Amino acid sequence: MKTSFMLNGTQTTVDAPEDATLLWAIRERLKLTGTKYSCGIGVCGACIVHIDGVSVMSCGFPLAAVEGRAVTTIEGLSQNNDHPIQKAFQETQAPQCGYCFSGQVMHAAALMNDNPRPSEAEIVEHMDAVLCRCGAYPDILSALKKVAKGGQVS
Ligand code: FES
Ligand code: FES
Repeated sequence: MKTSFMLNGTQTTVDAPEDATLLWAIRERLKLTGTKYSCGIGVCGACIVHIDGVSVMSCGFPLAAVEGRAVTTIEGLSQNNDHPIQKAFQETQAPQCGYCFSGQVMHAAALMNDNPRPSEAEIVEHMDAVLCRCGAYPDILSALKKVAKGGQVS
């Protein structure tokens, strides 16, 4: 079955089995591999993308449900990896293995699009959805506090 949607600003159509997930289509059909597959059951956040600006775990999200909607992956978040959150993570060298960071960036970007100056407690509560097996949480928090202090992120 065919599903048409905007992907990173470009109209896109994917022909896939009815039970295909958005993550599968993004990685296997569209070859955008920045979005990661990890738990596959909606508990780790590695696969987070934005759908109409909202953070969504794409591993369990049906591809068919994005018909007519706008999907943004890590590849479409900024032109040159220069979104303020990406820059803050680079400056603080927060990533260790880096596997979780697509999800970290996308989830943080969704928070700060809605609330450009979140408190530390709001950051911690929101980012609780994205696991980091390397335990880079202190550096993630410190980078996001820096961005929040600077205000506007887009
Ligand atoms: S891979 Fe989707 S939440 Fe873990
Ligand atoms: S940096 Fe390795 S899982 Fe987060």
